[in-house]
Amino acid sequence: MEVRSDREELRAVVVTVSDRSAAGQREDLSGPEAARLLEDAGISVIRVDVVPDEQEPVEDLLRTYVRDDISLVVTTGGTGFAPRDVTPEATLGVIERRADGLAEAMRSASLAKTRFAMLSRAVCGIARRTLIVNLPGSPKGVRECLEVILPVLLHGLRLLREERDDQH
Ligand code: MTE
Repeated sequence: MEVRSDREELRAVVVTVSDRSAAGQREDLSGPEAARLLEDAGISVIRVDVVPDEQEPVEDLLRTYVRDDISLVVTTGGTGFAPRDVTPEATLGVIERRADGLAEAMRSASLAKTRFAMLSRAVCGIARRTLIVNLPGSPKGVRECLEVILPVLLHGLRLLREERDDQH
């Protein structure tokens, strides 16, 4: 019997936003860590980019992935208070609908682990059929935040594609 699936494969991209990693001065551990966790959750990661903390180029890159109909773009880094931390601004420049629940859930769970979580300005939101999620820059932050949203992420991504999800 042929088993047909009307579900598209969900494709994700990880974008590490870091001057030092982009310049080759620091190995990017956070991007690959995010990619591994997403793959483990059944989301295929087709690229991990490493780019400097520059708002316009980051915005342009995010727009490219929205145009390419990538389901999920996860960024890591550039969400803090340093003058060059512009990932939230780049994200806000691209998204059309905010997904504050995801950012709130990650920040509140993170606060239970480190007070420094209140320094995260991370935002999450939707442009067309693409969800963009900002994560902190450390591999530990990536793990701690992704473990909060992964249990509901697939459901959200399916809804964004108007696919049925029998989970709820
Ligand atoms: N959230 C979690 N879960 N774990 C962390 O280690 N680090 C915090 C915060 N959020 C952290 C976290 C710190 S130290 C900062 S400065 C902000 O995220 C912003 O990090 P970024 O500038 O690397 O994006």
